[in-house]
Amino acid sequence: MQLSDKKATLSFSDGSAPIEFPVYQGTIGPDVIDIRKLYGQSGMFTYDPGFLATASCESGITYIDGDKGQLLYRGYPIDQLAQKCDFLDICHLILNGDLPNKEQKAEFDSLVTHHSLVHEQLHFFLRGFRRDAHPMAVLTGLVGALSAFYHDSTDITNPHHRQVSAIRLIAKMPTLVAMAYKYSQGQPFIYPQNDLSYTGNFLRMMFATPCEEYKVNEVVERALDRIFILHADHEQNASTSTVRLCGSSGTNPFAAIAAGVACLWGPAHGGANEACLQMLEDLQANGGVAKVGEFMEKVKDKNSGVRLMGFGHRVYKNYDPRAKLMQETCKEVLASLGLENDPLFKLAMELERIALEDDYFVQRKLYPNVDFYSGIVQRAIGIPTSLFTAIFALARTVGWIAQWNEMLSDPDYKIGRPRQLYVGPQVRDVPSR
Ligand code: SDX
Repeated sequence: MQLSDKKATLSFSDGSAPIEFPVYQGTIGPDVIDIRKLYGQSGMFTYDPGFLATASCESGITYIDGDKGQLLYRGYPIDQLAQKCDFLDICHLILNGDLPNKEQKAEFDSLVTHHSLVHEQLHFFLRGFRRDAHPMAVLTGLVGALSAFYHDSTDITNPHHRQVSAIRLIAKMPTLVAMAYKYSQGQPFIYPQNDLSYTGNFLRMMFATPCEEYKVNEVVERALDRIFILHADHEQNASTSTVRLCGSSGTNPFAAIAAGVACLWGPAHGGANEACLQMLEDLQANGGVAKVGEFMEKVKDKNSGVRLMGFGHRVYKNYDPRAKLMQETCKEVLASLGLENDPLFKLAMELERIALEDDYFVQRKLYPNVDFYSGIVQRAIGIPTSLFTAIFALARTVGWIAQWNEMLSDPDYKIGRPRQLYVGPQVRDVPSR
């Protein structure tokens, strides 16, 4: 970041001396006011619950222009990346700062491929869960448990250890997610197969059985690879901020990523794709398109507690570019699988059409987000609804670990420790008991 020639001055109505703050500018996007000396000079904190106007860090990984509906990974627009790259290209880009050349790609792909096995003891660890446990409960446990197996790469001050942990996490997440799925189905775990692509390997670990050869469907492989690309990183969202705050204590990378998995599970965040598909299925079961008007009235009624899941976003006040690409992928996959008349897709398109014409949504700048169509695609390729957020976590792992690494690579980083506005009781003595 660089110092702007602009300054910010804070003046007080009680005649206290004004305070001047430096302003910094980034490559693109809003400038920031550096308020680090505010408390020392005024005895006051800023107040910004939910961090709507607070930059927690500087980062060079992802940039979102919410008004334009633009998303860049290391400067490249998401639509170009989704069309021209595969997910491991994106992992290399997000982790290392640029797309791999031919040799770098061969080396990176091979490195990830040869770290996809997990320690056999994790198979026993997994068997401690109930078979009907939610996959995100299992995944939170499994990812945290990785720190019990990989002590040789948890020195967070060592850049090589950080790189090894990054590769291990990217490589093992598909294996862990597939294991959680197989366990819930009562089927045997399928080991990674090194001659398959990252996404083809995941599909085989998910849907193959020891009873017959499994052939990867190329349309499904490409669609799922694109879903991974669209979910890879997204600035300082709730789960990424969780990983940064957790990692800032110096804990190991597996524990920090497990915290991100736990945060992503929430329906306001990564759990929205599961909640969105549940909403569409419930609507479909209760009248479908004919009942959309009635449903939308509930959504607009504050007291109903009903939200249009997959709609709205803290940053995007325009169409989420990922939702557009996801809708395209939806059409491609449904057509290739002969499901172009999928009622849920038609219902989702009708919901979107009505919402985008309705004042309630237009005034609040509520548009479809990444979660609105992703569930329909995943359902069409056979992924169970309860696994959608685990797929999101699989894809977001590269973003989380890259952001964690970026934080730790800054020699001036500090443990995160927000302050508060205290509104509790005055000091008082404990009465005699
Ligand atoms: C993800 O941060 C990220 O980048 C996240 C993510 C990523 O890649 O990491 O993009 C992934 O989490 C996408 C978002 C998935 N969540 C959902 O689809 C759940 C439904 N959406 C909302 O709950 C909501 O839109 C949020 C949580 C996404 C954003 O909430 P904000 O920014 O806190 O906005 P808000 O709740 O203050 O809403 C502003 C207004 C309110 O109405 P008023 O009080 O002004 O009258 O819009 C309304 C809200 O009631 N509103 C909705 C709505 N979302 C917001 N009304 C109906 N349906 C919705 N979905």
